[in-house]
Amino acid sequence: MNIYQPAEDSYLLQKNLKKYLKNKYKSIKILDMGSGSGIQAQTCRELGFNNVLTTDINQKAVFHLKSLNFKAIQTNLFEKIPKQKFDLIIFNPPYLPDDKREPEDSKLATTGGKNGYEIILKFLKQAKKHLSNQSTILLLFSSLSKPEIIKRTAKKLNYKIKEIDSQKLFFEKIYILKFHL
Ligand SMILES: C[S@@+](CC[C@H](N)C(=O)[O-])C[C@H]1O[C@@H](n2cnc3c(N)ncnc32)[C@H](O)[C@@H]1O
Repeated sequence: MNIYQPAEDSYLLQKNLKKYLKNKYKSIKILDMGSGSGIQAQTCRELGFNNVLTTDINQKAVFHLKSLNFKAIQTNLFEKIPKQKFDLIIFNPPYLPDDKREPEDSKLATTGGKNGYEIILKFLKQAKKHLSNQSTILLLFSSLSKPEIIKRTAKKLNYKIKEIDSQKLFFEKIYILKFHL
């Protein structure tokens, strides 16, 4: 499997991550879920945040992240993440609905399931155990991921949600949302 190369979604999350990290303690614990190339983790590091755990389901990405000297775990969402709380969890997930025309090789990074939101919902359910009342999730998804279903499920899971940014692309709009317990 190839490593996902930073694209518009990565840059929109990166921009909001930089804003979020302004005035935060440098010692906060950060989990970068689905780190891929490591763009978000590198951003944290460049701003002086070194307590970052990177993860990916893709073994190639994990080797790459280790070569950049990040702590990296190969895992399907939180399966192999030790029991601990994070102050910040960032995730640019696979968020598109299944498209038979897309090559299997890139699907792992782009396709969130039949409807697009399946991995996101699993992530939000599993993330709760790793959050305190002060923690934040920065999550990206698309108008194609059925945002209303994601927001409704998140509310049922007792998350407070705030949309903080969006960007119009060719066939979709991408959003950044902040989640709190
Ligand atoms: C859209 S890419 C984002 C990569 C990078 N964070 C960025 O912003 O450019 C999604 C990443 O999530 C990883 N991924 C997909 N499913 C996953 C899962 N179930 N658990 C962990 N990582 C996953 C993919 O391998 C890919 O690296």
